[in-house]
Amino acid sequence: MSESVKLQPSVLIIFGITGDLAKRKVLPALYNLCKERLLPEGTNIIGISRRHVPKEEILDKVNLCVLETDQVCDPEVIDRLRTWLTMFKLDPLDDDDYVQLKSHLNDLDAKHGFELDRLFYLSIPPQVYGPIIERIGRHGLNREGNGAVSRLLIEKPFGYDLKSAEQLIEETEKVFKEEQIFRIDHYLAKETAQNILKFRRHNPVFSSQWDCRHIRRIHVIAKEKIGIENRVGFYERVGALRDLIQSHLMQLLALTAMDIPKNINDTEVHSSKHAFMESLIPPSAMAGINRQVVRGQYDTYRSEVGNIHSNTETFVSLVLKSHDPNWRDTLFQLTTGKSLDEKITMIQVFFGSQDPNILTFRIQPNEGINLNLLIEQPGFVHNLKEVNMEFRYNDHFDIDNHEAYERVLVDAIRGDKLLFASKSEVIASWKVLQPILDAWQNNNNDLQLYTTGSSGPSTDKL
Ligand code: BG6
Repeated sequence: MSESVKLQPSVLIIFGITGDLAKRKVLPALYNLCKERLLPEGTNIIGISRRHVPKEEILDKVNLCVLETDQVCDPEVIDRLRTWLTMFKLDPLDDDDYVQLKSHLNDLDAKHGFELDRLFYLSIPPQVYGPIIERIGRHGLNREGNGAVSRLLIEKPFGYDLKSAEQLIEETEKVFKEEQIFRIDHYLAKETAQNILKFRRHNPVFSSQWDCRHIRRIHVIAKEKIGIENRVGFYERVGALRDLIQSHLMQLLALTAMDIPKNINDTEVHSSKHAFMESLIPPSAMAGINRQVVRGQYDTYRSEVGNIHSNTETFVSLVLKSHDPNWRDTLFQLTTGKSLDEKITMIQVFFGSQDPNILTFRIQPNEGINLNLLIEQPGFVHNLKEVNMEFRYNDHFDIDNHEAYERVLVDAIRGDKLLFASKSEVIASWKVLQPILDAWQNNNNDLQLYTTGSSGPSTDKL
């Protein structure tokens, strides 16, 4: 990433700096960007929290998180972060606090002698987005002009269902224009997900076969070994469909099946992804949602969340079809689950019918691409045997370990929207899934319990 990145000093205003996401993803990403000198001197980070939190408490957290993954945390990098970071106490509903924040931001501009780009990063529960965004607008913190821009960076889930997503979009649009809004989907920023479009375009052996006449099924899988990890309140409300299917898996599917635009830039890629999502046929309650969806819950979930009646799904697998004539007979399957036997994210493309060739994009871990082939086994018996052609990034590249969140931050700071979700994609994805949410609200009979550490409920019927 480093060769092509030249960033201007800017100010990153992080709401929720004491939260879990900031601790696990955002702060370590900032540490790495600082270490690799990808963020320029003069970068400002304002950590917003409801209560007074000393700067050292945040830096200690950075230190601990980095030690967990890297074993070494460079004190010189922490010193540099110390000079960039200011903590700011703000009650999200108190207008006076926004007035003070505004004056603090204006002082920073004055100190630098020019207006800094502002990036408001909401690393907080989505329910609080509305009031904060409204106040940012009310007090003019999102000023534009003199070449400086203000941007809004928000985390999924973008809404709770179709209606609330539309409402959230409407509320944000009152304050920020679409080009200023960066909706994070960190799966899009994973190195190997970025490869999908280029791979499809530049390998004619596959691109000439990329349609329903040759591809029977595309299966996007994101299995996790971890459970819900103390995120009880969040997960009970959200569940697997909203948490991973609506965002990450739909996005990966769209990258795999959309028409490849003439130019791989944000406008054309967004429009093509959107067109594909719009072409997906929402499951029909009439035909029976259960025919298209399997949902499950791991066996210790209810005791973990302290709710013996919880029907929140921790596993979902569903199949969809598309109206697009190019994909008329292809099945699109999306599967995700927590507390399963392995951590793996991959996209499998099944070519042919009976004995398919499966092209697999391994998104994580062991990033790479596999193709299974049938060959005749040497010897006197004419048996067929399945073998694997395997490409691993690590064997060919010194794959720099930029975590997806580093990419997210750099792209948001430089205003590159390619790897973020557009509002039309968000809406199109909710439209496809809304009938499932509606059906689940009225009926819980199909929830299957599965053993922690197993491969989850059977999906053979799909
Ligand atoms: C997040 C989900 O978006 O992605 C989590 O909210 C999930 O539930 C996480 O664990 C998985 O991300 P990754 O990068 O570890 O695969």
